[in-house]
Amino acid sequence: MLGSLVLVWIFICLLFLFIKIQRPKNFPPGPRPVPIFGNVFQLNISNPLKDFERIAERYGNVYSLYFGGRPAVILTGFKAVKEALVTKAADFSGRPQNVLVSHITEGKGIAFVDYGPYWKEQRRFALMSLRNFGLGKQSMEDRILGEIQHLVVCMDKSVGGFMNPDTLFHEAASNIIYLVLFGIRYEYGDETLKQYVTSFVESTKIANGFWGMIYDTFPALRGLPLPFRKAITHFDIVKNINANMVSKHKPSRVPGEPKNFVDCYLDELEKQKENDGSSFTEGQLVRTIMDLHAAGTDTTSNTLRTAFLYLITHPDIQEKCQREIDEALKGKAHASFEDRHDMPYTQAVIHESLRIAKTVPLSVPHCTTRDTELMGYSIPKDTLVFPNLASVLSEEGQWKFPHEFNPDNFLNDHGQFEKPEAFLPFSAGPRVCLGEGLARMELFLILVTLLRRFQFFWPEDAGEPDFTPVYGITLTPKPYRMGIRRRQAAKDM
Ligand code: HEM
Repeated sequence: MLGSLVLVWIFICLLFLFIKIQRPKNFPPGPRPVPIFGNVFQLNISNPLKDFERIAERYGNVYSLYFGGRPAVILTGFKAVKEALVTKAADFSGRPQNVLVSHITEGKGIAFVDYGPYWKEQRRFALMSLRNFGLGKQSMEDRILGEIQHLVVCMDKSVGGFMNPDTLFHEAASNIIYLVLFGIRYEYGDETLKQYVTSFVESTKIANGFWGMIYDTFPALRGLPLPFRKAITHFDIVKNINANMVSKHKPSRVPGEPKNFVDCYLDELEKQKENDGSSFTEGQLVRTIMDLHAAGTDTTSNTLRTAFLYLITHPDIQEKCQREIDEALKGKAHASFEDRHDMPYTQAVIHESLRIAKTVPLSVPHCTTRDTELMGYSIPKDTLVFPNLASVLSEEGQWKFPHEFNPDNFLNDHGQFEKPEAFLPFSAGPRVCLGEGLARMELFLILVTLLRRFQFFWPEDAGEPDFTPVYGITLTPKPYRMGIRRRQAAKDM
């Protein structure tokens, strides 16, 4: 037994010494990968962002790494990201296929579907339905304002005390998506929602962690009962919850009179019934619902959590927003999205929160759709591409204050709101975040309503704030508590 282990050990050492992974000709440079594992040992897998910066300093803004046996190109800084995602959009807008994520989503939905007519049709439909909504834009705003009322009632209960905003912001963001999709919301703390979140978190944790990499790198192991199979089981639970919601929703619908996204989709499904090549199916609807809910919940709630973390630790900035909000909303019962034009400073604070949060630091992985070139390098078809959005959002030369929380990053010399080109928290090009409009509206209405009503502060006994986020597909601030007082202006309203 010991003899065989020694032999295996010697074999692995020889493999590492003599087998060299050959990069394709003129492929971007990068640190030397080892067989089987690639460059994973050169990265801090629990948060590789610092390593990505370090490697870019040595190899430049377009470099390569191997994840297992699979080559990937990492794009750093505005110029490289813009050239790939915007100038050469059609070449760089694919999504990796034949990996765990594409298998559990069965090639349906929007976010993980490869670039092509199927994705285009579904994306265009979703975008149009979210924009027009059958009932016009106002309806989206009404839904958000309705949810904010529940949020306010809940926060009112903590006045005079402290609260951890994590779950509350998460559930509010989740409800806003469900109001848009189905016209329903869950009570805060609802058990179905808890089960949904637990299964979803488990599934994505596995798919994006070590076992996801094993699955993607070694197709021969995919049939074995290893932990990556749990990702599929958890995903099925989430899928069934959504499929049941669609079934329950159907009787309430009046064909031709859509009141929400699911109604719009079911109408389209009926229209396309006779069309054999149609990409509209009920299975596709369920996956799209899952994509929109998943993509729109953590992202928005983590950005809100970051915004409040900085607002309670920068009381001067919070007060300046409150003065501007009081002035702009004088005599109005509630804020509307149009009011943002009268609030340049608050707009700057919201954008600065999105910048500093770097909520989706490496975007969603892209993939080349054909052999292409970028900044003098050749990149073959099917190469994984990671646009490092975090690097763009704190790139020196693009920002007045790249490494500090400072709304002046978005204000010109006359105090007017101005958005630099390198503001890419939602990415860019054909794959740009589909929910950007909804997310902007949510962030504005939630922040303005809460800041108008409450004063938030960092608890004296909480020690020094820790701004370092926890790494994942989305960056998450570490849990914190915030103190809440009702503002005098709100008492007078
Ligand atoms: C994709 C950011 C909110 C739906 C993305 C991407 C980023 C992003 C960086 C990847 C784009 C790429 O592949 O290059 C954010 C941030 C948000 C947010 C920072 C909030 C602060 C939302 C919301 C929704 C949504 C509210 C739902 C309505 C999507 C979808 C995709 C996507 C469906 C995939 C698009 C595609 O593959 O065509 N988002 N997002 N996002 N987002 Fe968002």
